[in-house]
Amino acid sequence: MAGISAWWCYEGGVQLDGPAVEVANLTKQYRDGTVANRDISFTVQAGEFLGILGPNGAGKTTLVRQITTELFPTAGHVRVFGIDAVSQPNEVKRYMGVMPQEAGLSFGLSVRHHLRIFGKLRGLPAKLASRRAEELISTLGLQEHRDKSADHLSVGLRRRVLLGIALLADPPLMVLDEPSAGLDPEARHDLWDRLRDAHRSGTTILLTTHNMDEAEVLCDRVGIVQDGSLLTLDTVESLKAAYGYQYKITFDSAAGTETVYGSDDRTLVQQVQAKGIRQYTVARTTLEDVYLSLTRERETPAAG
Ligand SMILES: Nc1ncnc2c1ncn2[C@@H]1O[C@H](COP(=O)(O)OP(=O)(O)OP(=O)(O)O)[C@@H](O)[C@H]1O
Ligand SMILES: [Mg+2]
Repeated sequence: MAGISAWWCYEGGVQLDGPAVEVANLTKQYRDGTVANRDISFTVQAGEFLGILGPNGAGKTTLVRQITTELFPTAGHVRVFGIDAVSQPNEVKRYMGVMPQEAGLSFGLSVRHHLRIFGKLRGLPAKLASRRAEELISTLGLQEHRDKSADHLSVGLRRRVLLGIALLADPPLMVLDEPSAGLDPEARHDLWDRLRDAHRSGTTILLTTHNMDEAEVLCDRVGIVQDGSLLTLDTVESLKAAYGYQYKITFDSAAGTETVYGSDDRTLVQQVQAKGIRQYTVARTTLEDVYLSLTRERETPAAG
């Protein structure tokens, strides 16, 4: 993470102090008894790009929706730039651009109209709202869809409009729940460029994703949630060093394709050659390997 000092001037000189997001001992139990977040604590520093990974149903959206003030915690605290999200939700929302995992866009309203209306809702003067809408239509590749109503858009195009809404007011914090879900590869790379631009200009970004490349390419740090708990949160390099073993060797055996992990590539090769195997592939482990080793049972990796 770039060592950006932790304050911003926003909306006419309001100074934002402290970390962008502080989550402390957060627990969320739904009415039906489901405990979707269990005692989660972490901090997103101002200027940081933080990713949250985890299997379906792990509790990512539940976590995000407590930060965006859509849900109230059962226990614990959320603070955004030092402001309590439970007691001052409207204040907190002023500093945040949000892209929900699922959101309805009002049927019948055109893309351009949507962006303009949300711009005004975010407090932009009408002229500025129109200008931002036009800019975003162009940067998000929505030109040929600008006058279509949202109910005529494909899933991926609707996601782009939602991203546009999150970007509208140049918020100091963006909270994005699976922003790349449903995007084609080109649109995903465009999204990454948009997010990198925002990050470079100082925006703090918190996103959830199932896309390991996305997390590895974009994020300063990555957290992994499973069954409501935050298992770990660190840089990709540190996660690999702690859990992933730096190398893996893959080969075919009578049992099928096998992968063995280790911290030394030569030792791995020797182990496999000692079994009489001559065809194998050695590679560096990826974030996906770390993720899988943490979130599902894996054979005990070879020592080395
Ligand atoms: N309103 C609700 N009432 C009861 N249980 C809920 C509610 N919303 C979510 N859950 C449950 O809480 C758990 C966490 O769900 P959540 O949507 O936070 O997971 P997620 O990590 O975002 O999953 P995905 O990757 O599929 O988006 C799941 O067991 C889910 O079924
Ligand atoms: Mg979700």
